[in-house]
Amino acid sequence: MSSSSGQKIGIVGSGLIGRAWAMLFVSAGYRVQMYDILESQLATAQQELQKELHSLEERGALRGQLRAAEQLALIGFTQRLEELVVNAVHIQECVPEQLELKKSLYSQLDGLLGDDTVVASSTSTFMPSLYSEGLSRRQQMLVAHPLNPPYFIPLVEIVPAPWTTAEAVERTRLLMLSLGQRPVTLKREIEGFATNRIQYAILNEVWRLVGSGILSVADVDRVLSQGLGLRYALLGSLETAHLNAPGGVADYFQRFGGEISAVSATYGPTPNTRAEAGTLAEIARQCEELVPLEALGQRRATRDAFLTQLAKLKKQFE
Ligand code: NAI
Repeated sequence: MSSSSGQKIGIVGSGLIGRAWAMLFVSAGYRVQMYDILESQLATAQQELQKELHSLEERGALRGQLRAAEQLALIGFTQRLEELVVNAVHIQECVPEQLELKKSLYSQLDGLLGDDTVVASSTSTFMPSLYSEGLSRRQQMLVAHPLNPPYFIPLVEIVPAPWTTAEAVERTRLLMLSLGQRPVTLKREIEGFATNRIQYAILNEVWRLVGSGILSVADVDRVLSQGLGLRYALLGSLETAHLNAPGGVADYFQRFGGEISAVSATYGPTPNTRAEAGTLAEIARQCEELVPLEALGQRRATRDAFLTQLAKLKKQFE
């Protein structure tokens, strides 16, 4: 029996991310109850979870010690929020990315929560203070942001609001570790958290390079997929720098710091990616030439299959 056995997790929202969390929690033996405002969504979730867990099992990619049927037996569904919170040690919120919707849900939850339940939002963009301010249970609320697809990408960003207790943060961190995820904990909330701040820095420069006609979409993506990304799949940017100079990272920045500052000074302003219609149309045209819209689903499935292999390799590396 795992230490998770018997503990209940509530999931609010049974869409793409809610289902992914359900799969992660049951893989570690937690009991999961899913709540959605739409009955049809819960029915779809049930079918998709059956299909997905059995398919993972057939491909030898199912996580955890339990069989697919055993994992499925741990998942229940409800349309009553009051029922979801009862005895839940953790609630993972996965409703659509609309601030007003999240605020209204959190104020409903506020009136239902006991002392022992932590509520984590999967939000990619909203700092936890934006939806928890003014609530009486705000100290039990934070962000636990996964990356898509969470089943194959272990990073979870834990982001506290100024009033979140250290205990809620630590409990969430340990919970994520118990799923085999790899959490990072931000000391305080910041726009974009860490992942999107870094991702947007890359997207901005990629945009400038294609927009100014220096590289095609295929070539700019190759810089990551055939170059930097291969190292970054194993090591972060600072350890990469540490390994790239005889005297380690201090030596690296002594040697290359001047060059880094000089190049950085040429980046120009942050692109306005919604207003620059010409660049956007060109990027979309080239991307759709590489992967037509009707082939996106197949391409995602292929990526996920190879991410499974990569995860195995990374385990060996670590
Ligand atoms: P989705 O649209 O696939 O699913 C949302 C679900 O919430 C639907 O089943 C909907 O019926 C349900 N819902 C709507 N209002 C509700 C309410 N008041 N109470 C209960 N359920 C309600 O959305 P998705 O993609 O799963 O995103 C959920 C959250 O995860 C968002 O905050 C999003 O930013 C975040 N996220 C999404 C990622 C992605 O790649 N899709 C990656 C990381 C985070």
